[in-house]
Amino acid sequence: MMLKRCIGARAETALISLFNLRNTMNQKQLKLGAFLPGNGHHVAAWRHPNAQANGGINFQHYQNIAQTAERGKFDMVFLADNVAVWGWGKGTEDLTRSGQIIHFEPLTLLSALSVVTEHIGLAATASTTYNEPYHLARKFASLDHLSGGRAGWNLVTSATEAEAKNFSRDKHMEHMLRYERAKEFVDVVTSLWDSWEDDAFVRDKESGVYFDSDKLHVPNHKGEHFSVLGPLNIARPPQGYPVIIQAGSSLDGKNLAAQTAEAIFTAQQTLTEAQAFYIDVKQRVAKYGRNPNDVKIMPGVFPVIGSTEQEALEKYEELQELIHPSVGLALLSGLVGGIDLSKYPLDEPLPDLPETNFHKSRLQLITDLAQREKLTIRQLYLRIAGARGHRTIIGTPEQIADKLEEWFINDGADGYNIMPPYLPDGLNEFVDLVIPELQRRGLFRTEYEGTTLRENLGLPRPTNKFTKVKKAELVGALI
Ligand SMILES: Cc1cc2nc3c(=O)[nH]c(=O)nc-3n(C[C@H](O)[C@H](O)[C@H](O)COP(=O)(O)O)c2cc1C
Repeated sequence: MMLKRCIGARAETALISLFNLRNTMNQKQLKLGAFLPGNGHHVAAWRHPNAQANGGINFQHYQNIAQTAERGKFDMVFLADNVAVWGWGKGTEDLTRSGQIIHFEPLTLLSALSVVTEHIGLAATASTTYNEPYHLARKFASLDHLSGGRAGWNLVTSATEAEAKNFSRDKHMEHMLRYERAKEFVDVVTSLWDSWEDDAFVRDKESGVYFDSDKLHVPNHKGEHFSVLGPLNIARPPQGYPVIIQAGSSLDGKNLAAQTAEAIFTAQQTLTEAQAFYIDVKQRVAKYGRNPNDVKIMPGVFPVIGSTEQEALEKYEELQELIHPSVGLALLSGLVGGIDLSKYPLDEPLPDLPETNFHKSRLQLITDLAQREKLTIRQLYLRIAGARGHRTIIGTPEQIADKLEEWFINDGADGYNIMPPYLPDGLNEFVDLVIPELQRRGLFRTEYEGTTLRENLGLPRPTNKFTKVKKAELVGALI
C-alpha cells in the first residue's frame, strides 16, 4: 500500500515484475512432478462425482491431464507401477470397491503421451526385480528418442508377493538381495546406454559407412546377477541417460539412491523428518563422490485446495466420507506389509507389527504416525486414505504455497511430487491456483529452461563411461 501511494500503481507492478525476475534469476527454484494415477490419489477418488472413474485406461483423459501439467510447467509427469493388480493378496473380496486396480502399462502410455506433449518430462516406474536390464534399457532409450530427451526411470525393487507370483516365483526376493540386484541392474543398463558414443552413427551415403566402429563399445557384463553381452540395438539416448529416479528410503534404498539417482521420491510427514532425510541422503551422495546438487529430493504432497480453508476442509471431508471401511482397511493392511488387520478391533490402537519383506521405510513411517498421533486402526486408515503416508496439505492456494515454501527454504526438499486427490479437478486447481502463487513468489519457473527433462531439472548430461576410459588410456599412453 505504502509503495503504491509513493510510486503509483503502474510503477509498483513494474517493480514487482523486476523483483520477481531478479528472484527467478538468483533464487533456486522448485522442481515439480505431477504424480498421476488414473482417477487420483485418494483411495475413494473414483467415486467422487467429478472424477474420471475409468481414468487408468482412458487415453483422452491422460492426454488432457498431461497437457494440463505441461501448461503448469511441471518438470514431469510421473506414473507409478506394480506388476500385479494393486492390492492383490487374498483375492477379490477386498478389491471389488477399489478404483486403482487397472491401468495402462506406463511406458506404453508415456510413448503415446510423448506425441501429444512437447516440453514436459515423462517418467515411470520399472522394477529391477521383475525385468531384465536389456529389455528395460532399450525401452527407456526408445522413450527418450521418441520424446526428444524427456524420459525418466523410477527405479524400484518392487514390494509384494503378488508380483513374484506373476513371474514364476513362489516368494518375493529378500529385501537386501533386491537392492544388490538393483545396483548391478543399473550398472548394466547404463553400460548398455553407453554402447554407442553420441556420434557413432555417421550414415555416410557416399562411403556406405553406417557407423564408426571405434565408437561402438560392447559392455560384455558378467556379474553376480546378470550376464549381458550387448551392445544395445538403439543409439545412445538424447539425454545420455534418461533421468534416473529412486524411491526407496530404507538404509539400502538410500545407499542405492546416493550412488545412482538424480531425483529421489520420498514420503515425509514433518519438516524435521524431511530435513533429517535430506541431509542424510545429500551426505551419502557426497560420500560416493557425487555432487549433492545433482540429486533432487522430492517428497510427495497431497494438496486439497479451497478458496477458503473451510472450503478445502469440506472438500477433504467429502472424499473421506466415500471410503468404505473394507477399502480403508485393505489399503492400510497393504501399506504395513500385507498384514491382515481385519482380525484386530478397528477402534483400538495398531498392534505391534513384525517387520516384513515389504517396503521398510513406509512401515516405519506409518507406525511412527500412529504412535505420534495416538491413532486407532480406523483413524489411521482414514488418515492415510489420501496420501498413503505422504504429506497432506489442506488449505487455500496461499496456505499451500506457504507450506511448500517452508520445506523448500529450510532444506527439507528440492521440490515435490504433487499428488492430486482426484482427477482431473485436483490437477486443474493446482495449476490454476497454486502454480501462479509459486511463480509470483519467484519459487517456480514461468517458462521451461531447456528442451530435455535433464536440462529442466538442472542436471548434468552423463559422460559415456567407455569414452571416459578411452580418454584416460590415451592420456596414459601420451604420458
Ligand atoms: C513417490 C513414490 C513412488 C513410488 N512408486 C512405486 C512404484 O511405482 N512401484 C513400487 O513398487 N514402489 C514404488 N514406491 C516404493 C519405493 O520404491 C520403495 O519400495 C519404498 O519407498 C520403500 O523402500 P524401502 O524398502 O527402501 O524403504 C514408491 C515410493 C514413493 C515414495
